[in-house]
Amino acid sequence: ATVLVLNGPNLNRLGLREPLIYGDRTYDDLVALCHAAGAELNLTVEVRQTNSEAEMIGWLHDAADAGHAVVINAGAWTHTSIAIRDAASMLTAPMVEVHLSNVHAREEFRHHSYLSAVASGVIVGLGFEGYVAALRYLA
Ligand code: DQA
Repeated sequence: ATVLVLNGPNLNRLGLREPLIYGDRTYDDLVALCHAAGAELNLTVEVRQTNSEAEMIGWLHDAADAGHAVVINAGAWTHTSIAIRDAASMLTAPMVEVHLSNVHAREEFRHHSYLSAVASGVIVGLGFEGYVAALRYLA
């Protein structure tokens, strides 16, 4: 089975971005970890990142058409985008929402997610390990 791991805005800056919150490992490290987990779990894992909301919506449409499961960290769009939620609502396979940080321990505006209601499950605060846990669940 194929799983798309979709990352939204600013996640390409991992390692440089607020390291006290997001850690010092890089986006490339995250990609490598997801690929390693996929190999171990017998999943074909494709990891993508975009800073364009339109591109993310297109990837969700593609996942819906292909019947692929999704792991998504939509970054700030989590808290703002009904359009991403509407696209996620079309998925037929499970979707797991992941956040590196514990959004509930942070600013109020990070407490609400437009995606959670249409996700199979939500993992927050476990850093990179959250992605591995999501892949394990999907496998
Ligand atoms: C994030 C949490 C969001 O609130 C934030 O906007 C991000 C990253 C996380 O992985 O912890 O960009 O999704």
